[in-house]
Amino acid sequence: MIGLKNLSVSVSNKEIIKGVNYSFEKNKVYALMGPNGSGKSTLAYAIAGHPSYSYSKKSKIFFEKSEISKLLPDKRAKKGIFLSFQNPLSLNGVTVFQLLRLALSGIKEPLAVKKQIDVLADKLHIKKELISRSLNEGASGGEKKKLELLQAIVLDAKFIIFDEIDTGVDIDALKIIAEYMSKNRKNKTYLLITHYNRILKYVKPDKVLVMSSGKIVKVGDYKLAEEIEKNGYKSL
Ligand SMILES: Nc1ncnc2c1ncn2[C@@H]1O[C@H](COP(=O)(O)OP(=O)(O)OP(=O)(O)O)[C@@H](O)[C@H]1O
Ligand SMILES: [Mg+2]
Repeated sequence: MIGLKNLSVSVSNKEIIKGVNYSFEKNKVYALMGPNGSGKSTLAYAIAGHPSYSYSKKSKIFFEKSEISKLLPDKRAKKGIFLSFQNPLSLNGVTVFQLLRLALSGIKEPLAVKKQIDVLADKLHIKKELISRSLNEGASGGEKKKLELLQAIVLDAKFIIFDEIDTGVDIDALKIIAEYMSKNRKNKTYLLITHYNRILKYVKPDKVLVMSSGKIVKVGDYKLAEEIEKNGYKSL
C-alpha cells in the first residue's frame, strides 16, 4: 500500500525523520507510538506531502507501485491518502456536505454523498445538527474526530492516518470509532498515531511501530503497546 524508502525529512533545516524504511500493507491497522517530539506527526505530514518539508535525495514514498514522492498533497489525497490532523481545523461557512460534494464532484452524485453522510452520522452517533453546521465549528474534540472518520469513509480513502484520534475522546466515542475501523478494514490501511493503549484495546493493531529520534526503532504486535504502557519507552 504505502512504502517508505530511506525517508529523511528536514524541517527548517533540521533533520527530523532519519532514514525510515517501512512498508504498510492493505487491510491492516498500524499503531505508531513514541515519545513527544520523536517525529510521528512529521512522518504523517511527509506521507501526506507537506509542501514545505525538504526530503533527502534518496527518499522515496510509494503508493501501491507508483512513486508519489514528488506529488503535491492534493494529488496524494486523490489517490486515497487521508491525514486527520492532531487538531482538526474549522471551516467557517462550509458544511461537511459542501466540502465532500466539492471533493467528490464528478466521482459521486451529490445525493449519494448526502445519503452516505446521513447513514454514517447515524452509525457514528454524530448529532444531525452538527452535520448542518460549518465544519468543526464549535464541535467538541470527540465530535471533530468522528467527523474526520466520516470524511475519510465518504472519500473512500485507502491509507488513513489519524494523528492522536484518541486525544480528548470519551470512552463511548472511542469505542464507536474503534469498532467502525475494526469492521471496515477491507482495502484500507489505518495508521493510528497514539500515546495510549486505550484505543488499541478496541481496534487491535496488526503491528505496533515505535519511533524515537526520527527512526522506527522497534516493531512488534499488540503486546508491545502493553509493554510500553507498563514500562515506558526507556525499557525498549
Ligand atoms: N516547523 C518546524 N520547525 C522546527 N521544528 C519542527 C517543526 N515541526 C516539527 N519540528 C520538530 O520536529 C520534532 C518532531 O516533531 P513531531 O511533531 O513530529 O513529534 P511527535 O512525535 O508528533 O510528538 P508529539 O507526541 O508531541 O505529538 C520536534 O522536535 C519538533 O519541535
Ligand atoms: Mg504529534
